[in-house]
This record gives sequence, C-alpha cells and structure tokens, in this order.
Amino acid sequence: MTAAPFLSACRRQPAPYTPIWLMRQAGRYMPEYRAVRSRLGFLQLCKDPDAAADVTVTAAERLGVDAAIIFADILLILEPFGVGLEYSQSDGPVLHNPVRTPADVERLPAADAAAAVSFVYESVRKARAALKVPLIGFAGAPFTLASYVIEGGGSRNYVHTKSLMYGAPEAWHTLMRRLAAAVASYLNGQIAAGADAVQLFDSWVGCLAPDDYERYVLPHMQRLIGALTPGVPVIHFGTGTAGLLELLRRAGGDVIGLDWRVDLGAGWDRVGAGVAVQGNLDPLVLFAPLHEIRDRVARVLERARGRLGHIFNLGHGILPGTPVDHVIALVDMVHEMSARAERDSGLGTRGSGVRAE
Ligand code: CP3
Repeated sequence: MTAAPFLSACRRQPAPYTPIWLMRQAGRYMPEYRAVRSRLGFLQLCKDPDAAADVTVTAAERLGVDAAIIFADILLILEPFGVGLEYSQSDGPVLHNPVRTPADVERLPAADAAAAVSFVYESVRKARAALKVPLIGFAGAPFTLASYVIEGGGSRNYVHTKSLMYGAPEAWHTLMRRLAAAVASYLNGQIAAGADAVQLFDSWVGCLAPDDYERYVLPHMQRLIGALTPGVPVIHFGTGTAGLLELLRRAGGDVIGLDWRVDLGAGWDRVGAGVAVQGNLDPLVLFAPLHEIRDRVARVLERARGRLGHIFNLGHGILPGTPVDHVIALVDMVHEMSARAERDSGLGTRGSGVRAE
C-alpha cells in the first residue's frame, strides 16, 4: 500500500502535494454538525461512539481533507479526576471543582483516568474502520489541561495557575506528573484503537515565559512524549508560542504546529530542519473573499517551498460562522497550488517515480 500524503509529510518524506487538514474541522460552522447537536448534548455526543465516529468521518469527507481528527475534546480526560466537567451553552467549558491548593492536588482521586474514557477508543475504532484517510488521535498537553483544572474554565491571565506554579512548585509538579501520565496512557489507548498519528494541544502554553516553560513544563512534556508508542507521528501544537519555539522542539514531537503570528519559514528555521511543520493560516482568513484566501495560501506555501514535511493547517481552530464553501475551496486550493508549486520548483511531479506516495 502507498503511504498517505499526510503520513509521508509527518515523516518528512516526499508527498505528491501538500496535505491539509483543519483543527476543529468538525464543529459548529458545519450544518451537518449542528443537526447532530440539535438532538445530542456535547458530552452526550462525545460519549456516543457511533455518533462521534460519524461526525468525524462526515467532516473529513465533506471537506476532502487528507486526515480526519477524532471527534472528542481535550477536557474529557479530566472528568475521571472528579473536576465536575460541564459544557455550558454560554460560557464554554466549566469545571465546578477546581484544584487550587496543594491540599486539592493531594485529594485528587487515584482513578485510572485513561481507562475511564474507553468510549473515545471505541469512537477511534469505528471511525478508523469507516475512513479512507489517516485518523489523528489527540489530547490536551498537561499545561493546558492544568490551566483548566486550576482555573475551573478558560482564562485570560492564568492567575490561579501561575499562583500554584510559582507558590507551590512541588504541588504543581505533582499535578503535572499526574496529568502527563494520564495523557500518555490516553494517547496510547487511542493508538492501540487505530489512531495513525496523535496531536498534543498545548493551546494556552504561550502565556509562559521561556524560563518558566523550561522549568515547569518541558520535563513533563519530554517524559510524556517519550512514553508514547514508537513509530506513530506526534504533532506538538501550541498558540502564541513565538517566544518558545526552540523549547517546544526540545520538548519533542515529529511535527511542530505553528500559529499565524509567526512567519512559517522563520519558525521552521528556528525549530530546525529535523522536524516537520504544521500550519499556519490565520483562521479569520476564511472569512475573506476567495481571491484573498488564494493569495494567503500562496504565501504560506511559498514559505514552505523546497522543504520536506509541511502539513497545511490553520494556526488555530476553525471558528463558528466560517463559510463551509470557503473551507472546501481552501482544501482544493492547497492541493492544486502545492502540486503545481512542486513542479515549478523542480522537486518532481506526481508519478515521476521519486515520490513516496
Ligand atoms: O478538531 C476537531 O474537529 C475535533 C474535535 C475537537 C473539539 N475540541 C470539539 C469541540 C478538538 C480537537 C478539540 C480540542 C480542544 N478543546 C481544545 C484545543 C484546541 C483549541 O481550540 O485550542 C480546547 C482548548 C478545548 C476546550 C474546549 N472545548 C473549549 C474551550 C470549548 C468551548 C469553546 C468552543 O469552541 O466551543 C469546547 C467545546 C467544543 N469542543 C466544541 C467542539 C466542536 C463546541 C461544542 C458545541 O458543539 O457546542
């Protein structure tokens, strides 16, 4: 069997065109998703493997992307810790029992969190069986998960998170160890169920100073990534990470995800040639007219030209209200323009015999 372009790119092997998938590709911008959500609550949907697999596959097929991402959420793994997870229509996720003090950390139940979310593995199995493209499993990275556990929801300044980190470093490291161990087993469970690659979302890690990342996050990420099943590509993604790129690279991953605040070429130079890169169109560009989208796509592809291992994506998730026809047009543009760009740059063409596909 020939390698899928997405997996070739993860491994920095030649691909016939630049593969593309989109973070949050199954979501509220899509009418098919909204129809499912009109009958199922968000948590209900995540816990219904037939419905979750269906949402995963429908989004990938509708868009024509090169990979699917399993429909789930980064916060599901926190529920077994007794945090009181709820998704509210108006305020997003709420954790009713935040963990703020060293005593709270001590009181966390010893439950095997990864075993308690077996519904996700079942979704992976079902989606894998129905898909023609690779399936990405995912989890939140320990820092981003810790920020939700400690703040009790989303946050602007991470006051409680940083208070625990700076004020009670031992409790901080205990919490991070617990989360990193749970996430490693959770991702290995998704891999065992059929995930072809996994992505770690450290969405909010960009709030940290580099020194603090190095001290309070890096060792946990290294241990986590080192504990993952070998041979399965790991995508390491964060936002606002322009000050942290070298450290993210040290933390690990076969692919580094970049947001749109960094120039893709400059960011790639900083993480080095030994790693693939994913990104990095501003999700808001999808609200622009098609000719403007095309122009921005050309610029991203130009930054990656001549290097092996670019996976096209947005710099963060698709937003509600994004026109679906623009998303589909984006996927087509990337396929078409990257195939042509490779011919132009003399890197070879589809069917020339030098492609790994
Ligand atoms: O990408 C996909 O299509 C797969 C599914 C997926 C969801 N969440 C579904 C979801 C993925 C990969 C995530 C990751 C996730 N969840 C992250 C990391 C990515 C990022 O955006 O930084 C984070 C921080 C979360 C936590 C979370 N879940 C928030 C903050 C919210 C509310 C805000 C929002 O976007 O609605 C959620 C809910 C959520 N997760 C929805 C979806 C489709 C919307 C829920 C609904 O249907 O009402």
